[in-house]
Amino acid sequence: MIGGSSLAVAGLAFGHPATAVEAHAPSQRESLLLDSGWRFHEGDVPFPAILSQDDSYDNAKAGKAWGAAAPTFDDSEWPIVRLPHDFVSFQPIEEHYNRAQGYRKRGIAWYRNVLRFEPDDTAKHIELQIEGVATHATVWYNGNVIAHNWSGYNSLYIDLTPFTTYGSELNTLAIRVDAESMEGWWYEGGGLYRTVRIVKRHPVHIVTDGVLAHPVKLASGWTLPVEVTLYSTAKSNRVVSVKVSLKDKEGTVIDTETLSVTVTALDQRLARLNLTHDSPELWSVDCPTLYTVETCVMDGDLCVDGLVTTCGFRTTRFDAKTGFYLNDKPLKIQGVCIHQDHAGVGTAIPDALWDYRIRRLKELGCNAVRCTHNAPSSIVLDLCDRYGLLVMDENRLFNPSPEYIDHVRWMVRRDRNHPSIILWSVFNEEPMQGSAAGYEMVRRMAHEVKLLDTSRPVTAAMNSGMFSAINVSQAVDVVGFNYQQDKYDAFHKAHPDIALTSSEDTSNYSVRGAYVTDQDKRLTSGYDDPPKGWATHRGSWKMIAERDFIAGGFVWTGFDYHGEPSPWGWPTNSSMYGIMDLCGFEKDAFYIHQAQWIKTQPVLHIVPHWNWEGREGQPIKVMACANSDDVELFLNGHSLGRQVVDKYEMNFWQVPYAPGRLEALAYKAGKVIARASVETTGVAVGLKITPDRETAKGDGLDAVAFRIEAVDARGRTLPTAQNTVHFSVTNGDIIGLGNGDPNSAAPEKGNQRALFNGLAQVIVQTQTRAGDLILMAQAEGLKTATARVKIEPTQAPSRQATTTSVQVLDYWYDAPPEITREDALKNRLVNMTLWHDFGPRELQAGQTRDGYTLVSARYTPFAKVQAEGGSLDFPRLTGAVEVYDGTKLIGTKTDPAEGFLSVALPPGKGERRVNLLFRTLADTPYAFQQNVIVRQRFQAF
Ligand code: GAL
Repeated sequence: MIGGSSLAVAGLAFGHPATAVEAHAPSQRESLLLDSGWRFHEGDVPFPAILSQDDSYDNAKAGKAWGAAAPTFDDSEWPIVRLPHDFVSFQPIEEHYNRAQGYRKRGIAWYRNVLRFEPDDTAKHIELQIEGVATHATVWYNGNVIAHNWSGYNSLYIDLTPFTTYGSELNTLAIRVDAESMEGWWYEGGGLYRTVRIVKRHPVHIVTDGVLAHPVKLASGWTLPVEVTLYSTAKSNRVVSVKVSLKDKEGTVIDTETLSVTVTALDQRLARLNLTHDSPELWSVDCPTLYTVETCVMDGDLCVDGLVTTCGFRTTRFDAKTGFYLNDKPLKIQGVCIHQDHAGVGTAIPDALWDYRIRRLKELGCNAVRCTHNAPSSIVLDLCDRYGLLVMDENRLFNPSPEYIDHVRWMVRRDRNHPSIILWSVFNEEPMQGSAAGYEMVRRMAHEVKLLDTSRPVTAAMNSGMFSAINVSQAVDVVGFNYQQDKYDAFHKAHPDIALTSSEDTSNYSVRGAYVTDQDKRLTSGYDDPPKGWATHRGSWKMIAERDFIAGGFVWTGFDYHGEPSPWGWPTNSSMYGIMDLCGFEKDAFYIHQAQWIKTQPVLHIVPHWNWEGREGQPIKVMACANSDDVELFLNGHSLGRQVVDKYEMNFWQVPYAPGRLEALAYKAGKVIARASVETTGVAVGLKITPDRETAKGDGLDAVAFRIEAVDARGRTLPTAQNTVHFSVTNGDIIGLGNGDPNSAAPEKGNQRALFNGLAQVIVQTQTRAGDLILMAQAEGLKTATARVKIEPTQAPSRQATTTSVQVLDYWYDAPPEITREDALKNRLVNMTLWHDFGPRELQAGQTRDGYTLVSARYTPFAKVQAEGGSLDFPRLTGAVEVYDGTKLIGTKTDPAEGFLSVALPPGKGERRVNLLFRTLADTPYAFQQNVIVRQRFQAF
């Protein structure tokens, strides 16, 4: 029986959540997380003004970015943050900020990181992959601008290879994020909120998102055309063979094919292969069987680059008269719309928390999600494949100009192997939808989709214009209606051959645990009362369920989200549309939809709770959510009447309140098939903690969502408790807190949170150390609770090597050579700007006669070095030298042969000059062949 809050879903075994670490066949490919070592600055760092001729010249050159984009910029005092990171989620909620964005300050921020590549990486192709950065971003690498990206919802793949240096010559990434810019009318977060990776590959490799493996059903059996896009950074043309193998879930190879191809240097090459399967197990929402296609780029017998692509065998079809078919069986789409934020963490959702959210949707009985109004993190689609949810994947910006049509292409290329995806949506509610211009825009966008995927229909979520002479419904395969329920029949009558789905419906408000709508208290009731001008959860689904020609619907929304706090405004700061609240705790609409959607198990739930002290004798409205034939209600054992179940509208009673037990019995064919009850509880005596899983991975990435409740002496949950609870954790870090209260402006970070109508949530990320994760919850006057999650030792994922920023001294001048040491040393006090530029980092030919040459550089050490001291490192220094900090000798090298020299640098404020006195012998080369580095104390690289 379903009706409680257990996390089990029939037929699905929940183990560890999937991770975003890319799967690949054993090869030279390395997919490295770049989640650590990031230095963060909240607020802008304005670029210095360019005022002189020299500055203008310099600024125009590759590698010479200024300000915080420059490799040598001092970020030594910026705090270090871990990704995913939504900097907006750390901001307070304040009335004067934008309501749509949850009244949080947005702003501009910078991220910097320093990457180290080893000499044996030299031959590899190195790519930076940023899965998403909100909102407008500029990315620099080693002082070169490498990307401008004006959307928070697409990925960036950038070839770093030509700019990269190796060994102790480090590489600087700098990212300026402008989150003042907005793309939505909901909370969008800000910063590097999705996964960032470095992928190292063989020069001849599969490009990112470069495998298409989408099974096609034939009259008998299945074919699996595989398209592999290769690219080569090798210096000459290369002949390789591409081998693809289809494997079932046990890893058994079903079919293999190999093709030899020539890949031209610096060019792409498409290899087309074909696999077959006579009788695969089909992917469906109830049994989401997945297969893999392993692709190897073979150089002889060696797999030099490999990738594992997940795919599923299924057919989908939209019929204009009878709706949607999965594997040739009709299936009503029972969907929800989702945004991409959660309580406590904003948009920086760990994979494990996505796993929790997707599991909650499966428990709801939902079989589809619409990713509104943007393509999601790839983990969401992986999970939908794995758990069996259909997906409408949606493009964010409605714009077919070159820059934005690339976003459509990116979405389809990245996502087209997911069996879960059934629809590509090109827009949501665009004002141009009923115009010729809108039609032309959609025609072009739909065409781009078809160039990459002919197997799925294109849709658009329309909320008007569908009856105008020219409108976008004429340019899509399946028309999506947002609301417009009064137009279903008229549109179908006018266009009986156009397939139709609800792309968005309902939008009813409810606050979890509230049973009166009260504007002063900013509360909306959970009885699914009709909101002004909108449909209810009950009525809306009825409109869809009773029409075969409507393929299904997507309720607005599965979960509450920060921002868009309709119908109220301040202090309400999150939406109230969710079937679940911001934490994924079920509201009453959860049970309404379970009763409507779940057909394979009994559903029975009573609304509301039964703690109405002070209301004795007064009528309380009671709703039963059931999917049986009849339902009967009892108060303290006395029947209050048996009703025929209304499978859309639910069943209601007015019950004079008396404390005790309210029980419902569900009947099918006259037999009791389920019982549910609510009881008046005693006072709260203790706390209870329930983790969403019993084990977690000790990899520093996994996260556990803990549900916190107050309980009475008999262990019953108090539905009205509002106690403030303090948390402490061992072997984990609290990354966010929430309680689903849309009216609370309390911080979602820290270690305390009040229960809201009985519940709160704490999200804890694991650490890499051994030992169970323990969460302790304490509240005044209540018995403390602890919960333990077993930590399974797990190998940490492969990570890109990073270090703190280093200061590189690359502007050196050399004084005229002197015969005596004394004369040369006098030059330490001479204005060096009239001297020669000491040139690039290569050996100097040598002077014409024996003597001494002073070489100098002026610099202001990073703040950390000024405060604590550091060192001057000369990685490759040729010649005997004395090193002076101003006039003070701080180091010597007597051996003239090339070698490494590191000299301690004392602390000290402000600008300084380093003077290097070379003993220069006639015709003998000298110099440093690698940049000189000012290193912070304890900085290893
Ligand atoms: C829709 C819109 C959604 C959300 C919803 C609120 O029109 O597509 O993004 O704003 O209204 O009811």
